[in-house]
Amino acid sequence: MKIRVLGSGAGGGFPQWNCNCHNCHRLRHNQMKGQTRTQSSIAVSSDDKNWVLFNTSPDIRAQLESFPAIQPKEGVRDTGIKAIILIDSQIDHTTGMLMLREGEPLDVYCTEMVKQDLSTGFPVFKMLEDYCTVKHHPIPCDGSSFTIPGIEDLRFYSHALKSKAPPYSPHRHDPHEGDNVGVIIEQISSGKKVYYSPGLGEIEPHVMDAMQAVDCLMVDGTFWTDDEMCAQNISPKRAREIGHLPQSGPGGMIEVLNGVKQTRKILIHINNTNPILDEDSPQRKTLDDAGIEVAYDGMEINL
Ligand code: MLT
Ligand code: MN
Ligand code: ZN
Repeated sequence: MKIRVLGSGAGGGFPQWNCNCHNCHRLRHNQMKGQTRTQSSIAVSSDDKNWVLFNTSPDIRAQLESFPAIQPKEGVRDTGIKAIILIDSQIDHTTGMLMLREGEPLDVYCTEMVKQDLSTGFPVFKMLEDYCTVKHHPIPCDGSSFTIPGIEDLRFYSHALKSKAPPYSPHRHDPHEGDNVGVIIEQISSGKKVYYSPGLGEIEPHVMDAMQAVDCLMVDGTFWTDDEMCAQNISPKRAREIGHLPQSGPGGMIEVLNGVKQTRKILIHINNTNPILDEDSPQRKTLDDAGIEVAYDGMEINL
């Protein structure tokens, strides 16, 4: 199975258009070793031809242009995108569907809760009725599996997570099962598995079980500290409050990952305020020492 990181940044990307934080400022002015990052999405395939998109980022146009394997091959209109799986209804994960409106009906796999948000608060599904249209396919919240016609060698297992619905959602302060999911992707022929979970607020027992069961983890790398945005006077919101477990400190993601053995560990969905974006930072060294990688745009993982 091949996984292509289309976008490794959190909402806003890196640098963010209006942001002059320590990282964004230094990256723009060539004062820091680091890479720009577009917003959160990966593509997965078992044959290099038929791709499943996880999330559709507002940056999808540039992401597809930088990835020849997914581009048109035959006929006057074509794409390697066979289906879309949405792990939540956040703007950085769903807006890209609007940029795919010129194509065939979109086969979108997501929970009932995500479908509700995308039919009401941010009615992308309704808007697209007059363009390509959306075919919604419900996915489980209990860890059971589903498959996608035409993607024969992959099987998916989705489970509900404690994270957060988007600010626009009626569920923002009234969580419902299926507002956010984590997904295990399994290649049936090889048995190889990856766990994708870019928005992870709490490590519940079923999340730990998933982490222990796979060959590769691609998990929430949004923030280094809980108060990262408050400390820089950017926002009063704390990481945990908006559904992201920070990396450092007791119970943080590094400690969690240290408890997972024999697995490739990759952080993804990195916010522009996170010091790990600076490749010379002590925080990045801490990750290196712990054997934890940081996803970048264009990264490819072969399992
Ligand atoms: C989040 O995951 O919390 C988002 O990146 C927020 C956003 O899209 O603004
Ligand atoms: Mn996000
Ligand atoms: Zn910034």
